[in-house]
Amino acid sequence: MIRFAIVGPGGIAESMLAPALAEVPGAQLWSVHSRSLERARTFASRFGAAAPRPAFDDLAALCADPALDAVILATPDGLHAEQTVMAARAGKHVLCEKPMATDLDGARAMVDACKKADVRLGVAYHLRWHAGHRALAERVHAGALGEARHLRVQWTYQARSAENWRAHGDVGRWWSLAGVGTHCLDLARWLWKPLAGEVVEVRSLVTRPVWRGPNDETALVMLRFASGATAELVTSVLFESEPRVELFGSQASAICEGTLGPHGKGRITLGGKPFEFLPVNPYVGELSDFVDAIHQHRDPEVDGREGLRNVAILLEAAPRAT
Ligand SMILES: NC(=O)c1ccc[n+]([C@@H]2O[C@H](COP(=O)([O-])OP(=O)(O)OC[C@H]3O[C@@H](n4cnc5c(N)ncnc54)[C@H](OP(=O)(O)O)[C@@H]3O)[C@@H](O)[C@H]2O)c1
Repeated sequence: MIRFAIVGPGGIAESMLAPALAEVPGAQLWSVHSRSLERARTFASRFGAAAPRPAFDDLAALCADPALDAVILATPDGLHAEQTVMAARAGKHVLCEKPMATDLDGARAMVDACKKADVRLGVAYHLRWHAGHRALAERVHAGALGEARHLRVQWTYQARSAENWRAHGDVGRWWSLAGVGTHCLDLARWLWKPLAGEVVEVRSLVTRPVWRGPNDETALVMLRFASGATAELVTSVLFESEPRVELFGSQASAICEGTLGPHGKGRITLGGKPFEFLPVNPYVGELSDFVDAIHQHRDPEVDGREGLRNVAILLEAAPRAT
């Protein structure tokens, strides 16, 4: 049994991670960290955390528990680096929410600390465990589209205010690019890389027309891969649209509509025909891979190096506002 702590009992921990953890064979919610002991207690009790002492408001104390195996960091992006290093030094495996860090020094420190402690570091890009995406990726990588030519991902939503930490510079570094854009980037690299190589050029247009804070509100990011294949990402917190992924190859194209989100659903067509898949909870797949990685002493499918590459591209796409 791998015993997990959840750090940051907020939106994603409550709606997806804790419920999914309960469905993963060989995994157990053990303890919880919040800045408020009361919130940690409530969350621990709600999700049945099994430790004799399951609630903490001191992360070092939580990490000092010898019975704890791994932590899931579901805190704001700017806290991941310090928290990962602390957990790794205590000998705990770390599954970190995306994006893994807000600067390269932090991301590198995470990779180094986990390597030194010989613990696993995973980055939680759950969309790679969407059953339709996985089946499509397999077909695309086997040549179903021919050569990779162009890929387009659009994922936007309408923020009602700028109250969220992502809109600000203290523990957030990007807004639309962190909320949804880092997923779009990860998908583009995951789908194209085996056919087209790594990203070799990044260009972007970033705007902040409504709240005019430090972080992006709309971002258009263009990527060139080593083969010459291209990708464009459209992310925004300023308008609703149906999320789309479109892949264009030399012989065919594929379109995913409504597949981006937590649900594992949506519609996919390949070469103009419906591409059937059985929806599954992507967070269960993500957590199961992490548990397997611990048992098998291997890197998780999305490891720290993958997460670091994504952070580097985000930094290139959206330099700090002046
Ligand atoms: N993969 C996905 O599907 C997905 C979806 C959404 C978010 N995420 C990622 O998950 C992480 C958390 O996002 P979220 O949407 O769950 O955020 P959230 O709802 O704001 O929750 C974050 C939690 O972190 C704790 N925290 C500690 N220090 C904080 C600070 N200075 N400011 C705010 N909260 C602080 C808070 O719990 P206490 O106050 O109790 O300490 C808070 O509830 C982010 O990295 C995000 O990118 C991933």
